Amino acid sequence: MIRTKILGTGSYLPEKVMTNDDWAKLVDTTDEWITSRTGIKERHFAAPGQATSDLVVEAAQKAFVDAGVDKDEIDIIIVGTVGADNAYPSTGNWVQKKLGMKTIPSFDISAACSSFLYGLILGDSLIKSGVAKTILVSSAEIMSRIINREDRNTCVLFGDGAGAAVLRASGGEEGILSTYWGADGNLGDLLIQPAGGSAMPASRETVDNKMHTVHMKGNEVFKHAVLRMQEAAVNAVKRANLTSKDIDLFIPHQANFRIIEATIKRAKIPLEKTYISIDKTANMSGATIPVALDWARREGRIKPGDNVLTSAFGAGFTWAGLVIKF
Ligand code: ACO
Repeated sequence: MIRTKILGTGSYLPEKVMTNDDWAKLVDTTDEWITSRTGIKERHFAAPGQATSDLVVEAAQKAFVDAGVDKDEIDIIIVGTVGADNAYPSTGNWVQKKLGMKTIPSFDISAACSSFLYGLILGDSLIKSGVAKTILVSSAEIMSRIINREDRNTCVLFGDGAGAAVLRASGGEEGILSTYWGADGNLGDLLIQPAGGSAMPASRETVDNKMHTVHMKGNEVFKHAVLRMQEAAVNAVKRANLTSKDIDLFIPHQANFRIIEATIKRAKIPLEKTYISIDKTANMSGATIPVALDWARREGRIKPGDNVLTSAFGAGFTWAGLVIKF
């Protein structure tokens, strides 16, 4: 039986650190409010001139080294992002160019915070169906370019970064054991960047009204996030024919520590087995999980044979869960 193994991972956070106190100088907020309501302490912001593809390039190069593969062994590039370099070409195309890769298929997927897990599920099926042997799946976001810096309800929640994984077909025990994903477009308006697409093309008015930024009904998003993250986690575990006790590490999407707490309570996973990185990164949308996965591996939190559960929830709404044996 062919399994999709994660051969290697890499991550990158831009140099500039923006602390809660830095935000408190710009909007009416405090370190205490942000920490107690979200668990966030700091986030990284990209430098002017850095594009989303530049972040992917950094993470991908580290993933290639970790995986022990040459870039020419990659058959497909998949990038998950809500902040592509351009409307077109895709960020994946720019990554291909910047890394000097072969003329392989390269493209973006848009599933907001779930985009890395959507990418893994897509990569898994491309490998299992024999379309590709080795795939680069990455997710990167420069959320600092799409936040409304005057809206304290949203601006403090986000950060920039990129994570990447090299997937390869394997005949061994390790690899993706189960997947679960879903979406509900009926709730799209609760978390949306309204302008810049065909529904509301860019105009002086859309810029003046800050319509090219994150618009979110935080309380509503919170409720759905808890329900869907635990649904994705519980069903991924069930589909792997495991129970929550068999999970060695849970890597949830990091949007809010309170969402994580509520999710693990419902999914019956102890906090000691849950990876937390939100304090250092804030919510990097789709980049959050691959960065956490890379850090967890490098910190030795994932050992050979471990069952790692991951689940995400994001704009769309979208959600996904996987169990991966390392
Ligand atoms: N500093 C100080 N006060 C604030 C801040 C801030 N940064 N932000 C909001 N407040 C105030 C509000 O104005 C409100 O004041 P009021 O009562 O006088 O009106 C008060 O704090 C309470 O606001 P709530 O919205 O009830 O606060 P809540 O405890 O719900 O926390 C939060 C808000 C953190 C946004 C929470 O709802 C949340 O995390 N939601 C989910 C966000 C999320 O998961 N997004 C994920 C997806 S992102 C993606 O897919 C790209």
